[in-house]
Amino acid sequence: MAGKIPQPFIDELLSRIDIVDIINPRVSLRKAGKEFTACCPFHDEKTPSFTVSQQKQFYHCFGCGVHGNALSFLMEFEHAGFVDAVEDLAGIAGLEVPREQPTPGEEGRLASNKGLYELLERAVKFYRSQLVQHPQSHAAVDYLKQRGLSGEIAREYELGYAPPGWDNLHSALKVPPSDLIDSGLLIEKDNGGSYDRFRDRVMFPIRDARGRVVGFGGRVLGDETPKYLNSPETSVFHKGRELYGLFQARKSVRKLDRLIVVEGYMDVVALAQFGIRNCVATLGTSTTQEHLERMFRIVDEVVFCFDGDRAGREAAERALNNALEVMREGWQLRFMFVPDGDDPDSLVRREGSTAFEQRVEKAQEFSGFFYEVLSKQVDISSVSGRARLVDLARPLLEKLRSGVLRQMMQDELARVAQIDSTRLNSLLGEMKKSLPVTENTAKGWQSLSLVRRALLLLLNVPSLAQKAGESERFRSLPLPGIPLLCEVLLVLSENPEMSAGALVEHWRDHDNWRHLVRLMNAPVVVPQDGIEEEFDGVLLRLDAMLSEQRVDELRNKQQLSDQEKKEFLGLLSGLQNR
Ligand code: UTP
Ligand code: MN
Repeated sequence: MAGKIPQPFIDELLSRIDIVDIINPRVSLRKAGKEFTACCPFHDEKTPSFTVSQQKQFYHCFGCGVHGNALSFLMEFEHAGFVDAVEDLAGIAGLEVPREQPTPGEEGRLASNKGLYELLERAVKFYRSQLVQHPQSHAAVDYLKQRGLSGEIAREYELGYAPPGWDNLHSALKVPPSDLIDSGLLIEKDNGGSYDRFRDRVMFPIRDARGRVVGFGGRVLGDETPKYLNSPETSVFHKGRELYGLFQARKSVRKLDRLIVVEGYMDVVALAQFGIRNCVATLGTSTTQEHLERMFRIVDEVVFCFDGDRAGREAAERALNNALEVMREGWQLRFMFVPDGDDPDSLVRREGSTAFEQRVEKAQEFSGFFYEVLSKQVDISSVSGRARLVDLARPLLEKLRSGVLRQMMQDELARVAQIDSTRLNSLLGEMKKSLPVTENTAKGWQSLSLVRRALLLLLNVPSLAQKAGESERFRSLPLPGIPLLCEVLLVLSENPEMSAGALVEHWRDHDNWRHLVRLMNAPVVVPQDGIEEEFDGVLLRLDAMLSEQRVDELRNKQQLSDQEKKEFLGLLSGLQNR
């Protein structure tokens, strides 16, 4: 494999192909005026709300909000990775994909990773064939049957059988043992030589999000320990990053909007068998921040489903803790527990999928779970217990990187601890000043559009809205986001005490909510000094634009009334004096 694909090539590629040619073979488009329409391939609908603009080379669905260009369409529709989608498009355009020169170390590593992926793929085939062919495989087949797995689901998840014996892979695959050691399939002995890591186990291949096999989990057929063996960390397998079942989930659900995180391989497979196909499992580790970031790039909602025993509770608390630092507004993270003694596998088999889905619907919100965990550590019925709750919460709230989310959590704390917000604020004392995002990822403030700057300032200091006066006047400005800005100003002028958190909540399930949440998640540091002056500056610029707009309008008029003439001259001198 080679280095990065240069950005200019991607620009060139997109300019050469026509989005209609890419979409039309996959979704039959109807011409409607200047645009094309179809029923949206990314959500269920009966009347078309998916539009493709040939002129803009852009698609947009008014139903579910998906949008993008030819490249993102391919990635979404084909569940393809970026590189694969670029290569597909380049093939259509008849272009060769150029690569930036990789650094020497990188080249060696990537070249050998390619070999590793191929080797692991062959191992999947081998284990699968053994499940059918090996003289002792009946034990594994019986085991899977006894666990209630259908042949169909076993095929879909490519379950296999690692036969007993110490030297199966090397003799079957005929590749150098050192490669098999690198892949994690063989264990190297101290005195040289090597042997099969997985013996007499049911094998669960683990694919990464792009569908490449990166490792395996292997389960014993009986009660021996360890129950599961997993591939070790290799150059392609990182437990803290991969999620078992993610590839299959993305493949079978066109538009994923929620992921359910369960604890075990068997849980994922059983739930899939019962038609609940949006489940993933971590690989015997707790959920890492990287896992969370990954999932929330794909969906808006993640539901953690833990076993009901003590281990499950503890795992949930670890997951909660890991989530604090990466948590953002707009991430709906919820928690549920299966009854003690069950796991999702046994539960779905007993209760069926509808009951299971109902439990998922009732999963607890992040903040609710957060305070439930803390409340258990204090006597919430006493004043001192509630004060202690605030103490416990403080260091945790400080971990939240987003000011708005922190404010929301703080509001909730005020409710739980039965303290009014002002007093709570003083109890919490001087918490670290929060900024939407860390400095090192910050984009230049000045490079943001005026409207975005105005919105970000308002989200940080809602009371600034008082300075804007009659906000409706801005509505005629042809800037993206102006309607949202006008609405925000309007709501804040009617509710001067409103916090940013409440403001955002004001529009839950509304497009504005999504826009605001996205804005708050943008990697931007809002300047904390001179924030009022900054806002005044933005207002001045917006008003100047209004004046310019009016000047143009008057200039283009054939005849001006006396009053308009006066207005025109007044505007001109106003603009010159700036
Ligand atoms: P569970 O014991 O809940 O797994 O462990 P499970 O999938 O429900 O197993 P069954 O139903 O008994 O077959 C949860 C996860 O923890 C890891 C595995 O990833 C497993 O799926 N684990 C568990 C190990 O890595 N090693 C072990 O020995 C046990
Ligand atoms: Mn289980």
